Amino acid sequence: MAIPEKFIQDLVDRSDIVDVVSGYVRLSKRSGANMFGLCPFHSEKTPSFSVSPDKQIYHCFGCGKGGGVISFIMEIENLSYPEAVAFLAKRAGMQMPEETDSAEGRKRARMLALNKDAARWFYAQLSQPAGAPAVAYIQKRGISPAMVKNFGLGAAPDTWDGLRDAMREKGYTENELFDAGLVKRGRQGGFYDAFRNRLMFPVIDVRGNVIGFSGRILGDGEPKYLNSPETLVFNKSRNLFALNLAKKSKSGYIILSEGNIDVVSLHQAGFDSAVASLGTSLTPEQARLISRYTNEVIIAYDNDGAGLKASQRAIGIMEKLDIKVRVLRLNGAKDPDEYIKTKGPEAFRKLLEGSENQMDYRLRAIREKYDLSVTEQKSDYLREAVELLARLPDEVRRQVYAMDLARELGLPSDVIVADVERRRDRLVKSMFKQTQKQQTQPEKQLQPPTRELRYDDPASAAAEEGIIRLLYLEPSLISTPGLPPPEEFSAPGLGRIYGALRKRIEKGQSVSTDHLAGELTGDELGLLVAILQKPETLSRSRQSIADYITKINEQKQLRSGGTDLMALRDQLKKKKGYEG
Ligand code: CTP
Ligand code: MN
Repeated sequence: MAIPEKFIQDLVDRSDIVDVVSGYVRLSKRSGANMFGLCPFHSEKTPSFSVSPDKQIYHCFGCGKGGGVISFIMEIENLSYPEAVAFLAKRAGMQMPEETDSAEGRKRARMLALNKDAARWFYAQLSQPAGAPAVAYIQKRGISPAMVKNFGLGAAPDTWDGLRDAMREKGYTENELFDAGLVKRGRQGGFYDAFRNRLMFPVIDVRGNVIGFSGRILGDGEPKYLNSPETLVFNKSRNLFALNLAKKSKSGYIILSEGNIDVVSLHQAGFDSAVASLGTSLTPEQARLISRYTNEVIIAYDNDGAGLKASQRAIGIMEKLDIKVRVLRLNGAKDPDEYIKTKGPEAFRKLLEGSENQMDYRLRAIREKYDLSVTEQKSDYLREAVELLARLPDEVRRQVYAMDLARELGLPSDVIVADVERRRDRLVKSMFKQTQKQQTQPEKQLQPPTRELRYDDPASAAAEEGIIRLLYLEPSLISTPGLPPPEEFSAPGLGRIYGALRKRIEKGQSVSTDHLAGELTGDELGLLVAILQKPETLSRSRQSIADYITKINEQKQLRSGGTDLMALRDQLKKKKGYEG
């Protein structure tokens, strides 16, 4: 890592974790030294996310995430280590040291600069003869000049080298253009423009960087859209088209649509919180991104089977993040753009105000599966609907819906209400049992929450954890004879943590979660923080670390089939002698 240690230390000193976390999580003081809040990394109703002002770390007992102030920013802002450092430096008013940019950081900065220059060039083409077809298409679609400017739309002319040559003149190499996905490599080895004869939509992230492009064909033809490939700065599943604009909206909700054109059309009609998911169905990353700006989303997907399916999937994803979801019914139009064009913005506003809530929507989705004139299907519908209503946390709403359902099916309402409540009781009981079970299985608790990090040999892993904990707290123990190499740890995840720790100690560098955040994955860092929170007495640390080493060796022999029983017995004896 090219960022000087000293800089990181100063930065961490000036970025109090309670201050930083409070920008995202409402923390309240509880008994003891820690602050608690609702975990921003998983959805929960009771706080299991703790922040320690003394240790300057955070840890969630629910999902296992944990670390220092830098890893918190990495996780919540979706940034790499150097980016998170830059983010915090800006916050703390610190100038980033020059040599800071790693090779990758420099490359990213170059690519972003190139993308911005390319966007400017596409935009400038609109006032050139070469941009005339795109201008005509913009007019045909009824996009106003104000929206062209607002979105920074542009024209890719019908040539093979317009952008390439313009960017080369600005000092970018063909390889840089290639890495950014702006040119393709021809059979003869030359490069040619990837976007030709298209209306260009720059994709801009929430920090205002142009990260990629989406180019629509001018009229009919295939492919209708061409998108930037995944690059160092562009990841479709983690970004949303127009979120840079929508995040500034005062509306309080976000409108999620499918198409770029729909988004432009919605903004033009005054619905400035519309975004689109870049041609993929909504991903969990995108939902999390949305949840940073709002807790209410209105889905305005296309009025077809694919749109309906995509809505259902999106509802499931957003519910997990406690986002309230409503779904629009675009009767008589295939998409929001057409709806606004044919019925006007006022009609769309009415639709927005009356849009179904997710319970109505889900009930309708269930109802549509069945033919209610067939008795058997009617009772299937009833069973599925009751199951759904039983999951409503609010008792009054449960009853209101149950009564509606009864009316619909011509059944006595008290019977249906009682049915829903009975189902609810059973559900709550089984949920309670499950949490009880989790709490009374200590060996389960010992396991890290992330599946990839699970321990195959919990006894050895406990000792491996012990070594990590002791080294972290007392780095001078690195000189203990017999410390195994990281590969000999039974749990690969613990081996990686241990390896990173050792490397830093051997180089005389300080160990802290903030320094390690650049070297470990988020899950590993979370595990480290969890390990550090288990008790350890330092008074007999030399003895303890020797015991841990012995335990690891014993377990290793047991795992290898225990063939060498004599050696094992000798070791056990030796250990007894040690303790006695
Ligand atoms: N899309 C894509 N690649 C395609 C087709 C679509 O990436 N071959 C993405 C685009 O981001 C597009 C969105 O999926 O905006 C929705 O597709 P579609 O409804 O076909 O496009 P619209 O933008 O709505 O365009 P139009 O109104 O002209 O149909
Ligand atoms: Mn569309």
